[in-house]
Amino acid sequence: MHSILEILILAAGKGTRMRSDLPKVLHRLAGKPLLGHVVDAAHALGAAQTCVVYGFGGEAVPQSMADDTLTFVLQAEQHGTGHAVKQALPRLSDDSVTLVLYGDVPLTHTTTLQPLVAAAQAGKLGLLTVNLAHPDGYGRIVREDGKVTRIVEHKDATPAERAIQEVNTGILAVATRHLKQWIAELKNDNAQGEYYLTDIIALAVRKGVEVETHQPAFEWEVLGVNSKAQLAALERIHQNEIAQALLDAGVTLMDPARLDVRGSLVCGRDVVIDVNCVFEGIVQVGDGVQVGANCVLRNVTVAAGTRIDAFTLIDDAVIGEANRLGPFSRIRPGTTLARDVHIGNFVEIKNSQIDDGSKINHLSYIGDTTMGKRVNIGAGTITCNYDGANKYRTVIEDEVFVGSDTQLVAPITVGRGATLGAGTTLTMDAPAGELTLSRAKQFTLSGWKRPVKQKKEG
Ligand code: UD1
Ligand code: CA
Repeated sequence: MHSILEILILAAGKGTRMRSDLPKVLHRLAGKPLLGHVVDAAHALGAAQTCVVYGFGGEAVPQSMADDTLTFVLQAEQHGTGHAVKQALPRLSDDSVTLVLYGDVPLTHTTTLQPLVAAAQAGKLGLLTVNLAHPDGYGRIVREDGKVTRIVEHKDATPAERAIQEVNTGILAVATRHLKQWIAELKNDNAQGEYYLTDIIALAVRKGVEVETHQPAFEWEVLGVNSKAQLAALERIHQNEIAQALLDAGVTLMDPARLDVRGSLVCGRDVVIDVNCVFEGIVQVGDGVQVGANCVLRNVTVAAGTRIDAFTLIDDAVIGEANRLGPFSRIRPGTTLARDVHIGNFVEIKNSQIDDGSKINHLSYIGDTTMGKRVNIGAGTITCNYDGANKYRTVIEDEVFVGSDTQLVAPITVGRGATLGAGTTLTMDAPAGELTLSRAKQFTLSGWKRPVKQKKEG
């Protein structure tokens, strides 16, 4: 029987170099706090408990994580990584193994972490190391006859030790009862006056516990974020990973370097995505969908065969099959478009249901509306859904034709097959099958002369 896994995420550091009032681990990568990425990894590994050690920024960290599967432990003052681990030890069970992760190291693959956990479950200490061309600042892995004997921090290292390129990532896994014994033995007699978690390596070796090292597949899996520049660099790496996965799944990306996915994007077959699109939250795109340049889709489902032209923004909506949207359309929350719906340029749709074959092609606002099938809405149509205090619904039944520049003052119903003349301000229900219009009478003043500019003298 393998011991259960508990995960400790250290996240108390201030992150001075972020130059921000927001705690470092709450800065977002791909739309999600750095800490959220690490918590996701913990969940993916099946941790029985995930414990977050927080400090700088106070309650902002537990408050903004709002995840009741997490245990939060305050490290009021930061006296080093060993001291941080110590704060959480009373919360950990004696017969588990503990994996230590960092709230500011967001991109570690679970396949990189699993062997460390397996090593700990086999009674060893699993340690993640990496060879760096420029190891400055990191703890160095000291080996004798190939076996790890200890870690020496950069500030405590001799010139010979500083030449070592194998460094400590900080990520390790070990039996919790060992961790409890060894953390209690740590001293802070070092260059930084801190309790170093890394000192448990030498203790493990002394107690006869084997140290088994593993390395990540990619160096960036163990990179931490200490500055906005590093955050931006990891964002690009992560976005590239997402883009490669989409390409592998058969999606055509006009430029994989100009795509941003901040959430999850699931695509069907033969989907084409042009440059500079942003996908946020949960987005599902069906077979054969084409997304033009510079579109933003947030929490959207798009059914098969729909084409979304450039500069279209869709937020919290369900888009049906074979629709044509954009360019420059805005679809707001609560909207459902059925089949073969056309929404054109400078059209805003909010909280409305539009049925099969209806077209709103130019310069219109349709809000709080239920629209039937094969309705044609002329350019410049406005549903007046708001009286300054309350919102009202507009109902437009099947096969209605609305002339251009029409205002529908809700609550109002336009009956099936009705026609509204251009320029109508509709304040009462329009009967089915009839032409309804409100229009000032047209007249001509014959002989009227246009004013002329008076000539300036000289
Ligand atoms: C640590 C390691 C070093 C390793 C490097 C990798 C130690 C002593 N050194 O050094 O071997 O190469 O990480 O990046 O462990 N933290 C707390 N509370 C504290 C101190 C730190 O929560 O009291 C957290 C920080 O928020 C950060 C992480 O622990 O996420 C690492 O702390 P940091 O001070 O950056 O350690 P390094 O000096 O970089
Ligand atoms: Ca660091």
